[in-house]
Amino acid sequence: MRIFLGLATVLALPIHGLSLPAGGAQQIPLSNTALPLGYASDDVRPLVLWHGLGDSYASAGMLEFANLIKGVHPGIFVHSIYIEENLEADQRAGFYGNVEEQLLDVAAQLAGVPELSRGFDAIGFSQGGQFLRAYVEKFNDPPINNLLTFGSQHMGVADLPLCRPTDFMCQVARKAARSGVYSPWAQKNLIQAQYYRDPEQLPAYYTANKFLTSINNEIPESVNETYARNLATLSNLVLILFTEDKTVVPKESAWFGSFAPPEDELEEATRSKEIVPMRLQPTYLTDTFGLRTLDKAGGVLLETCIGEHMQITEDCWEPLVRRFVGGKFGENTP
Ligand SMILES: *[C@@H]1O[C@H](CO)[C@@H](O)[C@H](O)[C@H]1NC(C)=O
Repeated sequence: MRIFLGLATVLALPIHGLSLPAGGAQQIPLSNTALPLGYASDDVRPLVLWHGLGDSYASAGMLEFANLIKGVHPGIFVHSIYIEENLEADQRAGFYGNVEEQLLDVAAQLAGVPELSRGFDAIGFSQGGQFLRAYVEKFNDPPINNLLTFGSQHMGVADLPLCRPTDFMCQVARKAARSGVYSPWAQKNLIQAQYYRDPEQLPAYYTANKFLTSINNEIPESVNETYARNLATLSNLVLILFTEDKTVVPKESAWFGSFAPPEDELEEATRSKEIVPMRLQPTYLTDTFGLRTLDKAGGVLLETCIGEHMQITEDCWEPLVRRFVGGKFGENTP
């Protein structure tokens, strides 16, 4: 069975105990058999999901995934992060907005869900993955235990994904982002611009970008040591790369890889596709945000899913969800 997340088909499935905002729940038919909202088994660690670009917090795909997880871990409480309660507005907020402001809202949202107060595991899909990592580094209250990120852009993207021909919202955002990705306007208003990291324009990126440079502590003068302390409190950071990913450029960003910056004009042509892997990244080597500490403690796992971006097969998600989600409070995680 394959679920396609990010296709943003809105939505006709019943929710089985998925935690949703009050307004959001009203838009969605609740099935008779649905568990009461907020139902949770006390000793199972809850789960938080953050959807990807083009998707919304209660799309058919997200609801289906939440239900599949409940099949693996009965009684687990699942909360799906939303920026807007209205589904179309939430989808739009994946393209347009200021990530720092969205994170403030999300931190308040998570702190307000009583079931999450003792901490939780989290799964981020695509851009939701680096946003959840930012939550860990900047807030982490309540704390994340295991963080799984599927096809995320931890070292940014060096190009923007192509849009489906009929996806107008995507096309407008892409065009705006490409035309001036490092302009102050784009950096405040276009989500993808806030993790656009072009190795051929690193000085422009360092100057203009406030989000990704911050969570990766890439600017020596403004390293925030809280980020490293918080990241190191994770039990596991599970980084999942899609082997055939053609949406995320380069796909190795899911594993903190990036294209090597060209050293000179001559080399550019031949070397520009070379990947700097996580353990050779300057911010890893200097441990500016705690990634190396976590890795040395055995807490960084590099996993693969076979397939295109966000085409998650059961073979791929099920063992990971079994291993890293649904643990009991007080028990050690793998
Ligand atoms: C560092 O990050 C923490 C957590 O987000 C924040 O409270 C603090 O103000 C930041 N420090 C500086 C100097 O920006």
